[in-house]
Amino acid sequence: MALKVKTIYVCKECGAESPKWMGRCSQCGEWNTFVEEQVTIGGSKSFGSGSTSSSSTLSATITPMPLAKVQVNEVSRTSTANAELDRVLGGGIVPGALILIGGEPGIGKSTLVLQMALSIPNRKVLYVSGEESTQQIKLRADRLISPTSKVSGVSADNCMVVSDTSIDRLQSHIDAAKPDLVVIDSIQTMETERVESFQGSISQIKECTSMLMHLAKSSGTPIILIGHINKDGQIAGPKILEHMVDVVLQFEGDRNNMYRILRSIKNRFGSTNEIGIFEMLGDGLREVTNPSEMLLNEYSQALSGVSVAAAMEGMRPFLIEVQALASTAAYGTPQRSATGFDIRRLNMLLAVLEKRAGFKLAAKDVFLNIAGGIKVADPAIDLAVASSILSSNTDIAINAGTCLAGEIGLSGEIRPVNRIEQRVSEAAKLGFKKIIIPKYGARINFKKFDIEVAQVYKLEEAFRLLFA
Ligand code: TYD
Ligand code: MG
Repeated sequence: MALKVKTIYVCKECGAESPKWMGRCSQCGEWNTFVEEQVTIGGSKSFGSGSTSSSSTLSATITPMPLAKVQVNEVSRTSTANAELDRVLGGGIVPGALILIGGEPGIGKSTLVLQMALSIPNRKVLYVSGEESTQQIKLRADRLISPTSKVSGVSADNCMVVSDTSIDRLQSHIDAAKPDLVVIDSIQTMETERVESFQGSISQIKECTSMLMHLAKSSGTPIILIGHINKDGQIAGPKILEHMVDVVLQFEGDRNNMYRILRSIKNRFGSTNEIGIFEMLGDGLREVTNPSEMLLNEYSQALSGVSVAAAMEGMRPFLIEVQALASTAAYGTPQRSATGFDIRRLNMLLAVLEKRAGFKLAAKDVFLNIAGGIKVADPAIDLAVASSILSSNTDIAINAGTCLAGEIGLSGEIRPVNRIEQRVSEAAKLGFKKIIIPKYGARINFKKFDIEVAQVYKLEEAFRLLFA
């Protein structure tokens, strides 16, 4: 059949196609998301792209059967030899899984995956890089393997590398290397001749991913894809990419800070509640097994404006330092700024402090900072945020042996938080002397913990305990 090149427009958000450019996508309703793409028609049939063509890949012998009769083989997960990564994956890599790891440039995606490729025991890994030459990969690996490296168990024996951008050639690389795991760094640099459009375009990303999915499912070899993130913090390429893969992990952190968090956004084989924490060192990523270590500073004396929250991220408790500065506004409108905390939530807490606790903060600039450069979404840090602001405002330091957990309601009540026992236990383990928690809901006997537990109904009670 003769090949014909056609220009179409594709929505970056949902992957909808249109022969004409549109300001607003008629499928997902997003504005200004259409980009021009060149596609070839009449070439080899693309498989798996779109729901209509997938039926052609189904064999006629497949028939429906009762769910009760479906045979389940025990899924054998392969441990990555990296406890944090295993935790986020739900216990290891499942055969045939397609795993996407997204993150901003330079955050450490290639380092994380290469380190895993080097340390996974008795498994052959094929590392396909479209971004770096094999020499560059070797240089990076040498840093990870160096005798002074604090990252243990890495060796280059089982890792095969190839620098290539063609997905069409991948099968021959796999035939040559016979790997147990394939890594593609990155999906945006890959291309296939099935689609006549430039590298990194939406049709290329879609087609390459669907080819990789087919490969992973038919061979049972798990594939890890690295993906870039666009400026809105989403994985570049249409949302379809996230629908196609089995697992989506996001690697995030502040570039100026060495701590990194690996978050599970989607996982067909495990929970999305888990996070993995790493520290970026000169020679690789170190697993942080005790997250509180990164979030607590040790001061010889208590400082005003600082308090410690007993927070949870996923299923893990950790103690985190909250710093606030309240100072007289130099100009008319007071400034409010928050790092690692929702600014609207901060404004709400300020309004509650003003109205219910009678503090005059309207003429004050308020700055808030969560230590460690991480974002916390746990509402239980409210109480620590309010206490830090008040501590800075009154210039009275909070006792360094005290920590707090509690959500603040609009009437100044301290609302119950989940997993209170775990929070108290973590605080006791880290040597805190006292923890202030909500009175509502918690009918637990805290006597077994080596810490004084103070339960409060209202913000005022907590403040009386802190600043009396
Ligand atoms: P990289 O893995 O290349 O990021 P990505 O693939 O997400 O773009 O890592 C980039 C940064 O990490 C780079 O600025 C150097 C730093 N780095 C370390 O600090 N320690 C190391 O051992 C390595 C390999 C990199
Ligand atoms: Mg990279």
